[in-house]
Amino acid sequence: MTKKEWWKESVVYQIYPRSFNDSNGDGIGDLKGIMEKLDYLKELGVDVIWLSPVYQSPNDDNGYDISDYQSIMDEFGTMQDFEELLQEIHKRDMKLMMDLVVNHTSDEHEWFRLAKQSKDSPYRDYYYWKPGKNGAEPNNWESVFSGSAWEYDEDSNEYYLHIFSKKQPDLNWENPKVRSEVFDTMKFWLEKGIDGFRMDVINFISKVPSLPDAPALEGKKYASGADFYMNGPKIHEYLQEMNQQVLSKYDLITVGEMPGITVEQAKLYTGEGRNELNMVFQFEHVDLDSGPTGKWDLKELQLSDLKASFTKWQKGLEQVGWNSLYLNNHDQPRMVSRFGNDDEYWLESAKMLATFLHFLQGTPYIYQGEELGMTNVRFPTIDDYKDIETLNMYNEKISEDKENLSQIMNSIYAKGRDNARTPMQWSSGPNAGFTSGTPWIKVNPNYQEINAEQQLVDDHSIFQYYKKLIQLRKQHEIVVYGTYDLILPEHSEIYAFTRTLGDEKLLIILNFSDGQPEFEWPQELEYEKKELLISNYSIDQEDEQEAFKLLPYEARVYKLT
Ligand code: NOJ
Repeated sequence: MTKKEWWKESVVYQIYPRSFNDSNGDGIGDLKGIMEKLDYLKELGVDVIWLSPVYQSPNDDNGYDISDYQSIMDEFGTMQDFEELLQEIHKRDMKLMMDLVVNHTSDEHEWFRLAKQSKDSPYRDYYYWKPGKNGAEPNNWESVFSGSAWEYDEDSNEYYLHIFSKKQPDLNWENPKVRSEVFDTMKFWLEKGIDGFRMDVINFISKVPSLPDAPALEGKKYASGADFYMNGPKIHEYLQEMNQQVLSKYDLITVGEMPGITVEQAKLYTGEGRNELNMVFQFEHVDLDSGPTGKWDLKELQLSDLKASFTKWQKGLEQVGWNSLYLNNHDQPRMVSRFGNDDEYWLESAKMLATFLHFLQGTPYIYQGEELGMTNVRFPTIDDYKDIETLNMYNEKISEDKENLSQIMNSIYAKGRDNARTPMQWSSGPNAGFTSGTPWIKVNPNYQEINAEQQLVDDHSIFQYYKKLIQLRKQHEIVVYGTYDLILPEHSEIYAFTRTLGDEKLLIILNFSDGQPEFEWPQELEYEKKELLISNYSIDQEDEQEAFKLLPYEARVYKLT
C-alpha cells in the first residue's frame, strides 16, 4: 500500500494575496487581510495554505518577479505581519506553504543589477549572457510572454535570457553559487517555521548548455525553446541536491510546477525513494482545450480526452509517486466556466467538478473563490485587463491584424489569467467586500449573487458542499488512499470511476453534461450495502435503483461494502 503521509491526507488552499482581502484600503490585498480570513479557511476545513509570492517585487508579473527573496512586498505588509500570520495559521492547526520562484529573479534584484553593471562582475554568471548571432538574438527562442526570450543590453553589447518577461531574467543554475544562494533563501524561510514550498516552473532550471535554436516555425521569427529548457539535462541532479541540502532536513510539503511533463517524468520527480519532490503540478488536462498554436488557440474539450488524461496520471503514479489535483489556479480560467456550465447549471456543475477532484487519488488544491463557484469575467475592453501575458499577447496580435479584435477578446475571455485574479467575493457590499478603496483590478460584476457571506448561511451552497467533501476525506481513508479505476470508458457524458481500499469500494458517478444520460449499475460491482456519501441533488431512496437517469451535472458517490 502507498505510504501514509500527512501531505497526502491534506487539502491545500491557494491564496493569491493581491486579490484576496485588503485590510488598509489601498485596493491591494495584504497579509493582515489574510489574517482576518483565517477563521473562514478553518471553517472550510483546509489543512495547508499556499501563498502565491509575497516577497519584494516591482510587480511586472504580480510578485513572480522577485527583487528581494528575504523581505516582504511593501503593499502586502512587513516581516512582522508575516511572522504573525504564520503564528496565527499554526495556532489554528493549519500549515503554510510558500511560493519559491527561482528559475528567474526580477531585473531589479541586486544580483541582476550588479551583473548588468560589468562583464567582470562576480554576479555576471548568475544569469545567461550571450553575444548576438548575425546581428540578431543569440537564438530564436520565444518568450512565454510573447516576443524574443532575449533582451539586448547596450552597455555590454550582449543579450540576457528571459523565458518570461524581460523583467524576469533566468538564473544560471550551472553556477554553484546560484544554487547555494537559493538553498540559503529556502533555509531562511524554513527557519521561520514555514511548512513547505510550491516551486515555480522548477523544471525549467536546467538548460541545454549550448542553448541551440529551436526548430523554426513557418512564417514565425521565434519558436518555443521548451525542448532545451524543460526537464533539462541536470534537473534531477539539482533537485536531489536541493533535497539533500535543504528539504530532507524538515518535514515538508513540496510541489513543483512543471509545464510539459509526462507521467514517466513525473515518476522520476515524485517517486518514493528518489528524494526529489512530493508531487508536481502537471499541465496535461489544462492543455486539452488548446489547439496546436497554444493556449489562446481555443478548442472544444472532449470528455473522452479528459478521462484518458486523468486515468493515465491516476494509474501511472499509483504506488509510485503522488498526484496533485487541480482544475484551476491563478494562471488558469475559473473551473466552473471552463469545465462546467456557469450559467444555467452553475450550482450543480461547480459541485460536480468539486466531487470529481476530491475523489481522485492525490492532494486536492482549491484556488481562492473556487469554493464559492466564482466564474470567469468578461471585461468590455482590454483597458480593464492587467495581466502581462494577456497584454503582451493582445499587443502582438493586434499589431499583426486589427480585424482580429473579437477573436482576441474571445480568447482572453476563455483563457486569460485575469479570470482568476478578480477580487475574492466576500459579500454583496461595495467591491464585494474586498476593499474599501479602489480595487487594483475590477470586481466581477456577479458578486451580488456569488459571495461568501451568503454561502456561509445557505446549507445548500457550494461552500457548504466543499466543507462536506473535505470532512469526508478526514472520515474515510479510502478517499485518500484508495486506488482509482475507470469504468464506462466510452461513455460520452458520464465520467464514472471506482476507488478501492481493501474490501471497501467507492463508486463515483458524474454527469459532465446538461443532458440526462442513464446510468446502469455495472454488474461487476457487487455489494451488500450501498451508502450514499454525497450528492449534489437530493435523492429519494426510491431513486436509488440499479439503473437511473442522471440529472444535468449530477454527481453521486456511493460507498459499497
Ligand atoms: C508560473 C506562475 O504560476 C505564473 O503566474 C508566472 O507568471 C510564471 N510561472 C513565471 O514566474
